[in-house]
Amino acid sequence: MDCLVIKGGTPLKGDVKISGAKNAALPLMAATLLTSDQCVLRNLPNLSDVQFMARILESLGASVEMNRGTIRVRARKIDGFGDYDLIRKMRGSICILGPLMARLNEAKVSMPGGCVIGARPIDLHLKGMRDLGAKVRVEAGYVHAKTKRLTGCESFLGGRCGPTVLGTANMLMAASLAKGKTLIHSAACEPEIEDLAKFLNAMGAKISGAGSPTITIQGVRRLRGAEHRVIPDRIEAATYALAGAVTDGDVPLRNCHPSHLSAVLDKMREAGVRIETGRNTLRVRPAKQLRSVDITTMPHAGFPTDVQAQMMVLMLKSPGISIITERIFESRFMHVNELARMGADISIEGPSAIIKGGQPLSGADVMASDLRASAALVLAGMAAKGVTRVNRVYHIDRGYENIDGKLRALGANISREPGQ
Ligand code: EPZ
Repeated sequence: MDCLVIKGGTPLKGDVKISGAKNAALPLMAATLLTSDQCVLRNLPNLSDVQFMARILESLGASVEMNRGTIRVRARKIDGFGDYDLIRKMRGSICILGPLMARLNEAKVSMPGGCVIGARPIDLHLKGMRDLGAKVRVEAGYVHAKTKRLTGCESFLGGRCGPTVLGTANMLMAASLAKGKTLIHSAACEPEIEDLAKFLNAMGAKISGAGSPTITIQGVRRLRGAEHRVIPDRIEAATYALAGAVTDGDVPLRNCHPSHLSAVLDKMREAGVRIETGRNTLRVRPAKQLRSVDITTMPHAGFPTDVQAQMMVLMLKSPGISIITERIFESRFMHVNELARMGADISIEGPSAIIKGGQPLSGADVMASDLRASAALVLAGMAAKGVTRVNRVYHIDRGYENIDGKLRALGANISREPGQ
């Protein structure tokens, strides 16, 4: 397993181009199953999760051609029984459930695995399918759903932590071909949901309200092929903005939508970081004096849970006490023990991390765990004195395209080494 070796202390300088959004790409790829026509998706990021989803589409019978960020999918004839092992390995694959139900009125897909950040239940996904009239049972590790024809409904999709992003995506895709009108209450408002609705409407769906908590879908008989360009990755953009901030660098970001990460930029400004925004550019410059701030992760447009770990590294540089409260996932502080190896002073009290910032970090051997925690360790390594080795880099390659290449282009002293 490869590792990243980072020598800290270099302020990042130079500009970085943000890739297409992983969390938009996965449901968009699943949506290509809704039609027998060819669909084309552009600006796909070159990530292991995207390649994995392409394999899942092929395992369902679709023809898939991928070439430098563009994918052509033709799901002429598909079957609803996904490959157990493939689907179980990637949580994001659950978003094939909606399209399979819409197209075939039946689906048998493996329960997606949990992961280090929490149990990752899918009860709301199954509730949505039941609300649309499907019979759903879970047995032997499979979800088995079946219906004569999906029927429009009024469905409340809120859970104990608020809306579900992929649950909303599944409901949008299934309801697009259901008979009659569907109203989703407590829908996820993430930009990735808006992007999916835009693609579905280009395919002939009739969706309004995407991006708001209430979405209306008027079912249609069939959907046609369409082309679509994936939105920029707001989590990658936030990660590079924070990489600039924690290294006291000057980092302009290109091909990003600052409006998609307003909560992150607001908190970075409150912490003293100087930020300039353009229509699809962002520039981070060193703070005159960093300040500690308190953060609570929320559903969009609140502070995103996927940026919590990276923001913690900025708080480690900010003198004073900061409190970060994680309200979306039950165990998303895996990075804390690894940061402690680098000299971080953080204590966990229930859902909150109490950070005593302003003390120097020192390089250490650390272990990547979940995707975003791993990115945080890379940021910490760049901010620390000395050398940091981040092991199990495959976690990072799931969600960050060419992270070491992009950081080296910004002047970071980082290399990828084959693991032992
Ligand atoms: C999406 O996951 C993202 N993944 C996650 O990003 C992101 O952290 C998450 O949304 C929240 O923003 C993709 O889009 C591929 P949820 P998703 O359903 O849709 C609970 C990353 O690092 N819940 O919105 O699976 C759940 O346990 C990844 O890129 C239920 O209770 O997340 C969590 O507490 C990590 N029942 C909360 O809702 C359900 O049926 C939000 O989960 C579904 C979810």
